Amino acid sequence: MDLYEYQAKHLFGVHGVPVVPGEVCTTPEAAHEAARKIGTTVVVKAQVKAGGRGKAGGVKLAESPDEAQARAADILGMDIKGHTVHRVLVTEAAEIADEYYVSFLLDRANRCYLAMASVEGGMEIEEVAATKPEALAKIRVDALEGCTPEKAAEIADAANFPAEVRDQVIVVLEKLWDVLVKEDATLVEVNPLVRTPDNRIVALDGKVTLDGNADYRHASHTDFIDHESADALELRAAEFDLNYVKLSGQVGVIGNGAGLVMSTLDVVAYAGEEFGGMKPANFLDIGGGASAEVMANGLDIILGDPEVKAVLVNVFGGITACDAVANGVVQAIAMLESRGAPVTKPIVCRIDGNNAIEGRRILTEAALPIVELVETMDDAARRVAQLAAQGA
Ligand SMILES: Nc1ncnc2c1ncn2[C@@H]1O[C@H](COP(=O)(O)OP(=O)(O)O)[C@@H](O)[C@H]1O
Ligand SMILES: [Mg+2]
Repeated sequence: MDLYEYQAKHLFGVHGVPVVPGEVCTTPEAAHEAARKIGTTVVVKAQVKAGGRGKAGGVKLAESPDEAQARAADILGMDIKGHTVHRVLVTEAAEIADEYYVSFLLDRANRCYLAMASVEGGMEIEEVAATKPEALAKIRVDALEGCTPEKAAEIADAANFPAEVRDQVIVVLEKLWDVLVKEDATLVEVNPLVRTPDNRIVALDGKVTLDGNADYRHASHTDFIDHESADALELRAAEFDLNYVKLSGQVGVIGNGAGLVMSTLDVVAYAGEEFGGMKPANFLDIGGGASAEVMANGLDIILGDPEVKAVLVNVFGGITACDAVANGVVQAIAMLESRGAPVTKPIVCRIDGNNAIEGRRILTEAALPIVELVETMDDAARRVAQLAAQGA
């Protein structure tokens, strides 16, 4: 889960990374009040999970509470890279002498962590990396040793931090490492980390990605879930414990096993080109031992997406044999009917693997008018794309 700036900075504060005080507001009036309480010049900052807010006009200085209110009115409701601004952070304006960049991230390819640091922060770091790679220090951090004081010094020196702030930067690096490890994050990034004219170091922006696999260790992280912006179908799927990701197409996809579902998305997108650009509407992996109920929940979620015009069930029977899957599909359709949500959109089933013949027999004998059995994955993808195009 990616965090908003204000949430990331909350975690920074918890672990002793210096930040400036601020308040999250959802109305211009609240921004007025927050600015009045802070009492200095403030910055009103759009809270969206996208970078480049400054460039997009989502970060504005305000000299007075009235001005903060006006800027908040401008920024709330703005669209930044496809994200609507529902909240602004009203925060103390820092005086900036220099803008730096620091981050820790998981370097999967090299099986380690990577620290990146630059004294040329502020602008997008991808730009620094592309135009001036020598200005971006990259230092490996061993997962078991972690960011020791020596490692932090190595990072600070590789990036050429000036002597007057070197010691502070080293401490901030160690604390950011604490954020990464203690909060189970896969990314902790500060851009800009600033030096004030009186040589204090402060994090003015923050980006943190939490590792969802470690959620069970952090009850408090559920507070970070953003119910208002989260996709309603994804939230419902999470309640059912389903691995569902909403995409933007018209073909609902259910499969067992993440690899099979990923390749199904590819095959559907490819086949869809022939039918006016039909695309997969979602990723949904119902896993190995899928019961009729899981199948029903999965179909329920997918059919709840108004964009979906047809569904592809692509199952390769393994431990759960195809006859069980076929029974699952038949029962799921009956179950949805009894829940008062009868299935009307076409469902194409491709089932193969363990006990495929029996599974196909069950589906054929059930003779459900909305279910069509197709033998191969490619043919099933073509058929479902065709049906989706007809329904679109
Ligand atoms: N609290 C603040 N005080 C002064 N300037 C700020 C403050 N927060 C941000 N800025 C300025 O705005 C720029 C963009 O803000 P930032 O939080 O980095 O958003 P983004 O990275 O999305 O553009 C920063 O590089 C900094 O120059
Ligand atoms: Mg930034």
